[in-house]
Amino acid sequence: MKGNIVVGQSGGPTAVINSSVAGVYAAAKKLGVKNVYGMVHGIEGFLEDKLIELEDYLDAPVGIELLKRTPSAFLGSCRFKMPKIEGHEDVYEKVFEIMEKHDIECLFYAGGNDSMDTVKMLSDYAAAHGKTQRFMGVPKTIDNDLPVTDHCPGYGSAAKYIATSLKEIIRDNESFGAKKPTICIVEIMGRNAGWLTAAAALAKGEDCSGADAIYLPEKVFDMDAFMEKVKHLAATKSSVVIAVSEGIHIADGRYVCELANENVAVDAFGHKQMSGTAAYLAQLIAAETGLKTRAVEFSTLQRAATHLASLTDINEAFQVGHDAVVAANEGKTGMMITLDRNGDDPYQCGTSAYDIHAIANVERPVPAEWITEDGCGLNEGYEKYARPLIMGELLPIFVNGVPQHLVRK
Ligand code: F6P
Repeated sequence: MKGNIVVGQSGGPTAVINSSVAGVYAAAKKLGVKNVYGMVHGIEGFLEDKLIELEDYLDAPVGIELLKRTPSAFLGSCRFKMPKIEGHEDVYEKVFEIMEKHDIECLFYAGGNDSMDTVKMLSDYAAAHGKTQRFMGVPKTIDNDLPVTDHCPGYGSAAKYIATSLKEIIRDNESFGAKKPTICIVEIMGRNAGWLTAAAALAKGEDCSGADAIYLPEKVFDMDAFMEKVKHLAATKSSVVIAVSEGIHIADGRYVCELANENVAVDAFGHKQMSGTAAYLAQLIAAETGLKTRAVEFSTLQRAATHLASLTDINEAFQVGHDAVVAANEGKTGMMITLDRNGDDPYQCGTSAYDIHAIANVERPVPAEWITEDGCGLNEGYEKYARPLIMGELLPIFVNGVPQHLVRK
């Protein structure tokens, strides 16, 4: 590769998105790329020419290792939708102008469905206007809902956090052995795909009976059936812990969180900001049954818990970043790196590059055959798929008792 490259991060952060930046950097340096730039706050910052040189941070002996152990988006993220090309050519020309100014030959963008739309729009524009710059997508999303790829970097770590924390909550909730149980509702992210909530199933093991029910957004949420289920569990158990997706919705399409608050905020992509589902359901249960309830919203914690990241996930996040550079060096553009599973036992996974048009803006749900017949559990098919993704740990570097992070100046 003769020119320089730039890497950006976009959308909701994950525990391992920085590992992908480390992978991009490591591959570029191996290939002798002179300058590896980082976009500050994704494409939105890039349009304002906000760049840093990664060498300033990653050349130090612990640089890459510290970056891998740093949660959130080290470069800063954004939720910026590229406008449609027609009538907004100036926005696209600006991107190419900045690329030319810094002699940037390839742009790498780590993100989920919406971010892959940016890669698609830019590579389509380049193709239509005879531009030679290349654009590659690096998969990332805790939601695990990108199509084609077996799974998405970020998911394994969030799933590990969810399974671990849920197990700890179950342990706590069981401790009183009360005649009347506390009903604990745990709300998990994932918008329209239930992959993250499904990870609640991974809490179950020899030493833990697991969640009592798991509600995914793939199924319409029936409030009456839910209440019946809660009452039955309360009558037969001394502890009840239920996992719900933030995206569960009733038959008319309204999210449960909207039942409590009609004025839910919307982002640039039209996605509603979801929160409050567990609190709403817990209040309803308390009012109808008189039982003690507790609402837990994992919220930011589930995507920022790098201290509990899956080593498999960290390594794969690094690999997709690395392999995106290798693919671009071979001349590929308008593609995203996918993770291709080759085996479960032992778990084996490779990568390849896939056309971005089949990926951008497509959401992949949890397969129906992995959801139990009663609609509130996951079967062994899911466990076989997900368990390998949460395996392994990478200890943080602790300073003064807390993990050390790499921070942009
Ligand atoms: O896209 C990832 C995600 O974490 C979703 O699971 C969640 O609904 C959303 O981001 C939350 O976004 P924000 O942090 O912008 O509210």
